[in-house]
This record gives sequence, C-alpha cells and structure tokens, in this order.
Amino acid sequence: MDKPFLSDIKELRRRARSHIEEGAVTEAYRADRETVRRLLNLVAERIAIDSDGEMVRYIGDDDPTTRRMLEGILATEEEHADDLRTLIETLGRDERQAPRG
Ligand SMILES: [Fe+2]
Repeated sequence: MDKPFLSDIKELRRRARSHIEEGAVTEAYRADRETVRRLLNLVAERIAIDSDGEMVRYIGDDDPTTRRMLEGILATEEEHADDLRTLIETLGRDERQAPRG
C-alpha cells in the first residue's frame, strides 16, 4: 500500500526544515556560498548608495540638515562597499595564489 498522504506531508515538512539552515539553495548548488554571500552584500551596499544618493539629490538645498545627515549615511555606505570590494578582491587573489592540495 502507498504511504498515507499525511506521512508525505510530514516528510515534506521534515525536508523543508532540514534545508532552512542551508538557505534557499538546493543540494545541486555548486557556487561557493561565502563568496556569493559577500557579493550579495556588496550588491546591497551599492543599492543603498544609489538610494541614499537619490535622496540627497531629491532634498537638494531645501533642507540642509537632512541633506548633511543623508550625506553622512551615504559616506558610510560607500566605505562599506569599498571594504567589501577590497575583501572580495583580496580573498580572490589569495585563493588563486594558494597551492592546490
Ligand atoms: Fe552598509
């Protein structure tokens, strides 16, 4: 006799829970997750920079205090993006130079 439908649901839930910690990828995913995570963080920083810059341009000269606050936030996001880019480049260079074992 086939498995009862209820046990299939339980199995589906068990499988779903077992993959939660691995993120939204399947077993067939071959990319280096840490590298992908760093790249996605860099993309997020770039989006924040674009968004902050757009807000600074929108405020213009209408509200100097808010503009200065946003420019400070923008500068911080640019530092984050620079740090991440340097980290990604450095780690990529180290991996290319590391002896293969
Ligand atoms: Fe940031």
